[in-house]
Amino acid sequence: MPGHSRLAVRRLTLTDFRCYQSLRFECDGSPVVLVGPNGAGKTNLLEAISCLAPGRGLRRARLSDIACRRSPVVGQKVGDAESAHRWAVAAEIDGAFGPVSLGVGWAGAGEDGKEKRETRIDGQPVGYQSALSEHIGVVWLTPAQDRLFIEAPAGRRQFLDSLVFAFDPAHAGRVQAFDKGRRDRTKLLREGRADAVWLAAVERGMAERAVAIAAARLDLVARLAAEISAADGPFPKPLVEVRGLLENWLLAMPALDVEEQYRARLEADRPTDAEAGTAQGPHRSDLWAALGQDGPEAAQASTGEQKAVLIAMVLAHGRLLTRLRGAAPVMLLDEVVAHLDGTRRAALFESIRSMGAQVWLTGTEPELFAPLRDMAQMFLVKDATLTTTPIEEWPRG
Ligand SMILES: Nc1ncnc2c1ncn2[C@@H]1O[C@H](COP(=O)(O)OP(=O)(O)OP(=O)(O)O)[C@@H](O)[C@H]1O
Ligand SMILES: [Mg+2]
Repeated sequence: MPGHSRLAVRRLTLTDFRCYQSLRFECDGSPVVLVGPNGAGKTNLLEAISCLAPGRGLRRARLSDIACRRSPVVGQKVGDAESAHRWAVAAEIDGAFGPVSLGVGWAGAGEDGKEKRETRIDGQPVGYQSALSEHIGVVWLTPAQDRLFIEAPAGRRQFLDSLVFAFDPAHAGRVQAFDKGRRDRTKLLREGRADAVWLAAVERGMAERAVAIAAARLDLVARLAAEISAADGPFPKPLVEVRGLLENWLLAMPALDVEEQYRARLEADRPTDAEAGTAQGPHRSDLWAALGQDGPEAAQASTGEQKAVLIAMVLAHGRLLTRLRGAAPVMLLDEVVAHLDGTRRAALFESIRSMGAQVWLTGTEPELFAPLRDMAQMFLVKDATLTTTPIEEWPRG
């Protein structure tokens, strides 16, 4: 694509990240295919990249579970929990503002006993993980999401928010700030004799963020719906909606009224929320989808159809960002290719080609990726090492 600046990971250094004690790996901006047997380390590598997006990565892992279990504890007392939990991902990326190095990792337990994540941009620690999304968007689809439409709303909300992060970097900071407000409020309510002025200020802040969060989700979903309906090809054209108290209010009244109404709701709910935490808000919203105009709700569709809905959404999102920003996010598609029939597989490859995005694909069988021969890089993953596959060794379609 002429004049196209792609968002891409160019170099990745993993230290004690799951099965990778130490991995240094370079690639160019084109799509990456990771092929290898079960248990080779393909998903772990994608997980490392997903840690460059706000949140807990594609496994939603606890920070302390990520560290390499076999890591030798050099120069430390055996059983020293701090060093046993240490891990790091460092990436050189082609970001929205040009090349930049991003780093994330374990930063020990804080004074409150909670595990802390360290985030660095060009070597400098930054206080907020959400700062990463200014530079790069990362979205993913994994086999764990095959039941996304059947399971609890939290997974759908996180999926939706990851699409919003890549579109509107400020969204991640708002979600973090809202969640902090929620924790502060619950604490104040439980303390009983809460400082009324402070409590009111916390609730005002929450209301302001809640409206911005809901508005950003509505905006993204509306754009996504338009992009999906404009698409042609073998993927379904799902109907998608975000449903939640504030989202619904925003469709019916001005944002300032929604903010005041939600603030008043928080104030009214104080007695019950003191027990159970904040009952209402954007942390309860849900992503709804149906297979098409007359199709079933996604939750009632077949496993393959549900997956196709998610793929259609991710591809539409990539096209949307390519059109609006000139660059799609980095897309991590774990084990997606093997589950598609031939027609859809060809359509996926065609989408990847036309978006020019750095899409990461994994699989156990190299043959399936033959059509990408002229536009992707293939690496063999085995026992936590990566070997590049020269073009003459690529399977031919
Ligand atoms: N914290 C950890 N420390 C060390 N090894 C780990 C850790 N967490 C997971 N592993 C191991 O990493 C290995 C690779 O896992 P991964 O999920 O990346 O495999 P994969 O290549 O995606 O396999 P599949 O094709 O089955 O999906 C597994 O054997 C797993 O047990
Ligand atoms: Mg895997």
